[in-house]
Amino acid sequence: MSEAHQLDQDWQPSPNNLESFWLPFTPNRSFKKKPRLIARARDMHYFALGGQPVLDGTAGLWCCNAGHCREPIVRAIQDEAATLDYAPAFQFAHPKAFELASRLTLMAPGDLDYCFFTNSGSEAADTALKIALAYHNIRGEGSRTRLIGRERGYHGVGFGGITVGGIVNNRKFFGSLLAGADHLPHTYSREHQAYSRGEPEWGGHLADDLERIVALHDASTVAAVIVEPMAGSTGVLPPPRGYLQRLREICDRHGILLIFDEVITAFGRLGFATAAERYGVVPDLMTFAKGVTSGTVPMGGVLVRKPIYDAFMSGPEHTIELFHGYTYTAHPLAAAAGLASLDVYRDEGLFERARALEEPWADAAHALKGEPFVSDIRTIGLVAGLDLEPSKEGVGRRGYDAMLRAFHDHGLMIRVTADTIALSPPLIISESQIGEIFDKLRKVLHELA
Ligand SMILES: Cc1ncc(COP(=O)(O)O)c(C=O)c1O
Repeated sequence: MSEAHQLDQDWQPSPNNLESFWLPFTPNRSFKKKPRLIARARDMHYFALGGQPVLDGTAGLWCCNAGHCREPIVRAIQDEAATLDYAPAFQFAHPKAFELASRLTLMAPGDLDYCFFTNSGSEAADTALKIALAYHNIRGEGSRTRLIGRERGYHGVGFGGITVGGIVNNRKFFGSLLAGADHLPHTYSREHQAYSRGEPEWGGHLADDLERIVALHDASTVAAVIVEPMAGSTGVLPPPRGYLQRLREICDRHGILLIFDEVITAFGRLGFATAAERYGVVPDLMTFAKGVTSGTVPMGGVLVRKPIYDAFMSGPEHTIELFHGYTYTAHPLAAAAGLASLDVYRDEGLFERARALEEPWADAAHALKGEPFVSDIRTIGLVAGLDLEPSKEGVGRRGYDAMLRAFHDHGLMIRVTADTIALSPPLIISESQIGEIFDKLRKVLHELA
């Protein structure tokens, strides 16, 4: 018997067999020495393999907005798996895909009346960029090819997304990326914004840099601007007051499409169905993912304004209008999970709940001002970012140690980006659980001192 075959025979689903899975965005060697394995979940908690409860301070990865293993969502997925396992979305479709698209377009503001489904946020970002390029192309403005992103932006890991993204480590290993992109400056200044609650007063003028970029390249070469309304993955940067409105005005002036990447911000994270609603700014294209199924089944998508969709609906009716899509576009299980998640959000008033909790959440988070190593705290909606001073051992060490201690010693899941802790709990969180998150975090910080 070959050694590999013997291994197959012997393999047990035990935490000792950790070699083959190459974890994403994770230090693999360190993880495999002391793994953090999750066995199950319920409502606000994960349960580690040994059964220890772990309070979910991050809604998984910014996605389980309705909490975990919620009965109506579980049942919808189970029923769909037994009814329609799969249906192609190229040339065919199934009813729940249309139902979910309608529900999402009703939820979105303005004339974001059409929905293109993907399977992830990365695919949603790349899809939005492709729709923007194709839109200009079919209207005879094929010279509009430049895509403008923002420093510190995160739009997933596809080549389009990392091109317009602005997180250096996500870009520098991967060659020259797409040609012709440019970047707005990021919106963070500790000097002007430290310890902000909600939208910082300072920084709206940074949107005006788009005028400089347009003047440099000429508007006739610029297809689209993409930003996260609140930059999440870089470490929680709420938009300065007036910033998004100014971007909208400048894009309108120059015929440039504005894309909001709402992969994190949609589905209640900022206390509204979308950030576009919170800020009263309707983008031309809006990406979503994560919360659409409350994290249960992979799904993403792009909401598109009517004039953009209409522009594609020309030519002979038997011809394909957009040469783009995925095998799993609008997968039946994802569509069922999406519909059930939207029901839970509506029936339990979870977006309104997040809005009502914004104040107590901010109070609890900002109470950590002055604790060891804390150098800034930012809150908005049910999101908090806490910057820690980097340790002498280098950037990221302190944040990583905080994450390990929180999980292993305090039963708390936090997310870290370098030395910034990002918190974004499920929207079902209670006020006492908010207190519990920050009490645990306070203990972690003292232990690190
Ligand atoms: C704003 C934004 N866009 C895109 C993505 C990528 O989504 P996914 O990991 O589902 O590809 C993320 C993920 O965190 C995100 O925050």
